[in-house]
Amino acid sequence: MPHYLDSPGFKFLELSKHTRERLFSRKRENIAPAEPFKQYPGSEIVELPEFHPEGQSLWEALKERRSIRKYRQLPLEPEDLSGLIWAAQGITAKLGNYLLRTAPSAGALYSIETYLCINSVQGIGPGLYHYNVVFSHLELLAKGSFGKELGERAFGQPMCWKAQVVFIWSAIPRRTMSKYGSRGVRYIFMDVGHICQNVLLAATALGLGACPIGAFLDDEIDELLGLDGMEETTVYLASVGIPQ
Ligand SMILES: Cc1cc2nc3c(=O)[nH]c(=O)nc-3n(C[C@H](O)[C@H](O)[C@H](O)COP(=O)(O)O)c2cc1C
Repeated sequence: MPHYLDSPGFKFLELSKHTRERLFSRKRENIAPAEPFKQYPGSEIVELPEFHPEGQSLWEALKERRSIRKYRQLPLEPEDLSGLIWAAQGITAKLGNYLLRTAPSAGALYSIETYLCINSVQGIGPGLYHYNVVFSHLELLAKGSFGKELGERAFGQPMCWKAQVVFIWSAIPRRTMSKYGSRGVRYIFMDVGHICQNVLLAATALGLGACPIGAFLDDEIDELLGLDGMEETTVYLASVGIPQ
């Protein structure tokens, strides 16, 4: 028996497929929803400067984008950080209670949370931050240089401490799974792919370099951010910096 067909990954793919039969017979998975927005009340807040989009056209950015892993040791402009965050999760419209964003999300349920490991940004101290989508500001989780610790938890990849900032995306699976059941897991990873690609293209358009990072020790990054790994867990990272 080929190993692929025995793997948990293959079983998940099979079990989470929509089929005509299952659409009508499948018992709904009973998964309670989660709060739609995460906030860290009482944390120190960092307001982000206004961002005035300029730079390369979408077409140029699409053509130019490459995974860039080496960065100059200069601080990032805070306006550029604002632009990158806006590309990731900026609110672009309201529809009832839904805050629609730059990146699409299955069912507009937005399971993905954005955290930052800031290594070097003009006027914003190094540390771990959470992006509060509703107020569009940063919430400080821990002050200090965490790049090396992050890198150690990402198989020693130097981008984590050499980049000016590392985006860390977590998922709160219940947000999507309460509607879509286990199929929602597929959607969570699609959602984060959209978000990451927005950041990669925005970085390119701003003359910056970025690299997606999928190789990391999940539990250890969760621990660094104070996530329990069950209700919320890390799903993807991307380093962004000033290219060499
Ligand atoms: C899901 C995913 C995970 C990745 N993880 C890493 C990683 O951990 N480290 C790394 O250096 N590059 C990583 N990459 C970047 C790929 O190596 C890169 O996209 C690929 O070599 C193609 O090069 P390009 O991005 O310059 O077009 C990842 C890319 C994707 C899409």
